[in-house]
Amino acid sequence: MKRLFIVANWKSNVTIQEVNSWLLQLKNSKWNIENKTIIVCPPFTLLSLLKQRLNEHKLPIEVGAQDISPFPKGAYTGEIAADQLAEYVSYVIIGHSERRKYFREADQMLSNKVDMALQGKITPIFCVQDATTVVPRDVSIVAYEPVFAIGTGNPDTPESAEKVSMRIREENKNVRKVLYGGSVTDKNVNSFISRSSIDGVLVGSASLDPVTFSHIITNA
Ligand code: PGA
Repeated sequence: MKRLFIVANWKSNVTIQEVNSWLLQLKNSKWNIENKTIIVCPPFTLLSLLKQRLNEHKLPIEVGAQDISPFPKGAYTGEIAADQLAEYVSYVIIGHSERRKYFREADQMLSNKVDMALQGKITPIFCVQDATTVVPRDVSIVAYEPVFAIGTGNPDTPESAEKVSMRIREENKNVRKVLYGGSVTDKNVNSFISRSSIDGVLVGSASLDPVTFSHIITNA
């Protein structure tokens, strides 16, 4: 049985108050995590609190970051370096299409971010828009996220996602896991997960509601 990755990307959402109630509601829902790695990626401001609360509630959930500095620690105002992130996270999302679009992150910078993450022993979850997107050599987890599907309620078809996943693996020999992201819900998650070359999902909007997220985990 393959190990599934269910990743929540909260983007620029959620406050301290909201994180507490999200966790309580998740804790009180029924969810089946057998064979699943659950990773929640909050904004930087909530990394410390989320990690602390997950420990207190004994919830088997890992914490990830949504971005990482392309530089080491030092004089880079506003950036958070791998050494600092490693105190909180085991995973980091790199190359999300919103970072590429709004912050003009391009291949070289993304490759530097991957290098920094790996040096800090943080596993990159590298986002691609299709099978032609450049994937840095040492990346092992890729998330296929077609732009038309992100936040639109219009997911790709599982058939198409499977084809893209197979091409990504063919072209990037170090890739071990391919996740699908883009309008994943508790209703459609299983149609993606049941494809043999799809190892999990990256969930945006639907992860903000803890009950829906618990259903996504259980239905995966
Ligand atoms: P969505 O976002 O689930 O809201 O479509 C996915 C993502 O951007 O990672």
